Amino acid sequence: MKYRILAKLQEHAGQYVSGADLARELGITRTAVWKHIDGLKKEGYRIEGVSNRGYRLLGNPEGPPDSGFGRQLLCLGEVDSTNAVARRLLKEDGLPHGTVLVAESQTQGRGRRGRQWQSPVGGLWFSLILRPELTATEVAKLSLVFAVALADGMERYLPGQVRVKWPNDVLVNRRKVAGVLLEMEGEFDKIEYVIAGIGINVNVLPEVMPGELRATTTSLMNEMGVRLSLDKVLRDMLLCMEQAYDSFLRSGWLPFRRRFTRKCIHYGQCVTIRQGDKVLSGTDMGVDEWGCLRLKTAEGDLYRISAGDVVFD
Ligand code: BTN
Repeated sequence: MKYRILAKLQEHAGQYVSGADLARELGITRTAVWKHIDGLKKEGYRIEGVSNRGYRLLGNPEGPPDSGFGRQLLCLGEVDSTNAVARRLLKEDGLPHGTVLVAESQTQGRGRRGRQWQSPVGGLWFSLILRPELTATEVAKLSLVFAVALADGMERYLPGQVRVKWPNDVLVNRRKVAGVLLEMEGEFDKIEYVIAGIGINVNVLPEVMPGELRATTTSLMNEMGVRLSLDKVLRDMLLCMEQAYDSFLRSGWLPFRRRFTRKCIHYGQCVTIRQGDKVLSGTDMGVDEWGCLRLKTAEGDLYRISAGDVVFD
């Protein structure tokens, strides 16, 4: 019921809907409406209640993005993690393909390999729900596909300055500006849903980052010297992601393999791969047909790396 109320508020985005109208349309009492609104607010939705006028959903003043990705857009305030909220909603209600959940800030933002992701106000923290008819192996490549899409999308802000780092980091000036965290649910050959979590440091000041990240991260604002509209960046990125997704479904991984290689900051260079305590050094020979990084050691052995972090030498 809660999400039926949310849908009604979204239908009238920016306008007040009276508690009495909601109660009548949904066949429940006004007290029940109030309780569900309270529940939605606890989940992070920003809903304003004004006596004699009703309830109004706040956020995304410019309306939904042009692309199908984000047609259903849930704007949240502070949440633990948009990926975690998405997972909870998917268990309860089932969100349609293309739904986007975007939060103002996250208290427990998740990064790759179990790391924390710093998510203060000013960044773009969102999760995109996908329901692809792909195997888990194909879905895994989507994180590289989306890294390429984000890097391409950011080219309009910083032409010629955006690169990718395997597997799915987006860098400007050799510093991380965005990352992708893909989570999926289902069987190997029948994926139920994918949650693509995207974090972009848009208007985040480097000073607010913890010490160890200050040297390795940057933000669009920091590089461009201007504050950007989060709504505009979200729309631009969703459009690029949707185009990339459609192209991946149509033409497969090969074109992205080439695009990834062209944009990759360490292709052909000597790099070190860190996997927990294990390290391996060698020359980056490019990504393979699975999205793994091929590494040739000084002894001439070729390794295919499926998980880990690239450390620059
Ligand atoms: C990485 O480690 O590079 C991936 C970072 C992904 C962060 C985003 S922010 C929105 C979504 N919610 C999360 O908790 N994480 C992802």
